[in-house]
Amino acid sequence: MRVGEDKILDGRGVAKKIEVEISKKVDELKEKNVVPGLTVILVGDNPASQVYVSYKEKACNRVGINSSLIRMAKDTSQAELLSEVKRLNNNDSVDGILVQLPLPDQIDEEEILKAIDPAKDVDGFHPVNVGDLVVKGTNLAPCTPKGIMELLSRYDVDLEGKEAVVVGRSNIVGKPMFHMLLDNNATVTVCHSRTKDLKYHTKRADILVAAVGRPNFISGDMVKEGAIVIDVGINRSDDGLVGDVEFEGAKKRAAAITPVPGGVGPMTIATLLMNTLEACEERRG
Ligand code: GUN
Repeated sequence: MRVGEDKILDGRGVAKKIEVEISKKVDELKEKNVVPGLTVILVGDNPASQVYVSYKEKACNRVGINSSLIRMAKDTSQAELLSEVKRLNNNDSVDGILVQLPLPDQIDEEEILKAIDPAKDVDGFHPVNVGDLVVKGTNLAPCTPKGIMELLSRYDVDLEGKEAVVVGRSNIVGKPMFHMLLDNNATVTVCHSRTKDLKYHTKRADILVAAVGRPNFISGDMVKEGAIVIDVGINRSDDGLVGDVEFEGAKKRAAAITPVPGGVGPMTIATLLMNTLEACEERRG
């Protein structure tokens, strides 16, 4: 893919291409009587989680992956959720298990993520997969940063020796993003809520990844001329969905930028499909 005059990194378009590629591979597996399966567990009724889960189900349906959704009440106990995860670990037709986050307060999230069979951990959140990512890379890496790497790769963005700045240090995005950029030979800085003079760092970024979850947090004047800007934010505001980056201001300076919606979000979903397929091939392909 090439960046056009609109400077847009078209995550939605790239994700569609990936879905075509995945559909073909799923068809090949089906000829061998293997149907990849993803099971999502949704605990409670968080509105955003319900939307994300429905996107994941629809994407599975488009490519022929079997998807099932287990809904559990918001007062589900730790023991009940653990037993559901263990049941899925032992079900051979389930290749991927995804427990949608956040979980209600009574649940110990870390313990739940540890209970998922690492071979079925399509989120890449299990400590074994996190460790593999840090030491040698892993197929089952977290979907959002892996999707961002895929997007950069499909646009032939060269990372070697570039200054990459990640704003946000979450386990889901910021930390794994750091490792992936580093493994691709970027010089990586991770900024967070205690960073002094954030603008000093963002202004140096050839590649700027914003994953803070605050609407329009990165203003146009914080962006370096010619930067590649990746906006992970999905924030609901009076103007509809907005990212973490003030889009119009940043676009004036950037060489390329991901829109919200239509940038990182579709790549996250496409990567979940990739991870499910890879988990299936690895286990019984
Ligand atoms: N909640 C927000 N992002 C994610 C994700 O990538 N995986 C899961 N399981 N929950 C999330």
